[in-house]
Amino acid sequence: MTKSVLRSAFIVGTILFSLAFLALSLDSLAQVPARTNESNLTPQVAAGKRAWQAHDCIGCHTILGNGAYYAPDLTKVTVRRTPEFVAGWLKNPGGQMPNQHLTNQEVADLVAFLQWVAEIDTNNWPPAPIGVEVGAAKPPVPTAATPVPEKISATGAALFRSKGCTACHGSSGQGTSSAPSLKGVTSKYDADYLTRWLRNPSTVKPGTAMPNLPLKDEEIAALIEFLKTVR
Ligand code: HEC
Ligand code: HEC
Repeated sequence: MTKSVLRSAFIVGTILFSLAFLALSLDSLAQVPARTNESNLTPQVAAGKRAWQAHDCIGCHTILGNGAYYAPDLTKVTVRRTPEFVAGWLKNPGGQMPNQHLTNQEVADLVAFLQWVAEIDTNNWPPAPIGVEVGAAKPPVPTAATPVPEKISATGAALFRSKGCTACHGSSGQGTSSAPSLKGVTSKYDADYLTRWLRNPSTVKPGTAMPNLPLKDEEIAALIEFLKTVR
């Protein structure tokens, strides 16, 4: 092959592949409105998205591949569970999820948002976790008739568990791959700093991976007492 043949092969090839790239991109973009069910984007869905951000759900959960991974992926949660289950859960969460004391309006908005997210055509992403059947036996829906007792306890140790600190910092504050050890943290920082941190970590360190947890001042004080014992 001569130099000029090589050059034209390069130019023609570049043009052809650029055209193919452009055509495929335009095709993908044309499918976005249908796949994202854009037409169902109601003001309530938008309000749910704002509540999702305000309560930092993404600090613990993932949707559409975005977020943290130690709480369940919520992309298809309204399908995997039911909208009623999700509403009941948000009013009264169990396990390691802290109660965010959401209003009924926020709960309804969040459910609308999660339902909209669940209807996005994600080519079946995320895959069902191994061993979990979609639509399999659902846990009982917490209702007003079966209230879960408020786990407010005077002791910081109990709060450390009930507020979900253990999910990231380990069962006794020893640290995990997602958060540092809290050993000696009360000698590293004074109570004033720790209070500001626990009220809202991102005002102390913008962009920090620690979510803003809803804590009352007395709970913060009790948690700091507990942190003094972590060594
Ligand atoms: C501090 C971490 C944390 C935050 C913040 C948090 N969650 Fe959770 N959430 C969890 C954990 C952990 C679980 C799993 C609890 C269990 O099953 O023991 C969970 C479970 C759930 C479930 C049930 C999922 C299922 O498949 O059973 C839903 C729905 C949910 N969370 C929604 C939300 C929403 C909406 C927000 C924001 C308002 C939020 N969560 C904020 C930790 C968190
Ligand atoms: C979503 C996971 C997560 C949860 C839940 C969580 N933390 Fe954290 N925490 C972190 C991460 C990540 C850091 C490190 C943040 C940084 O340095 O930007 C951190 C840092 C801290 C620090 C400062 C440590 C240092 O040496 O700078 C304290 C104190 C702390 N967390 C206490 C708590 C307490 C108390 C709770 C429960 C009320 C809690 N955390 C819940 C993830 C979490």
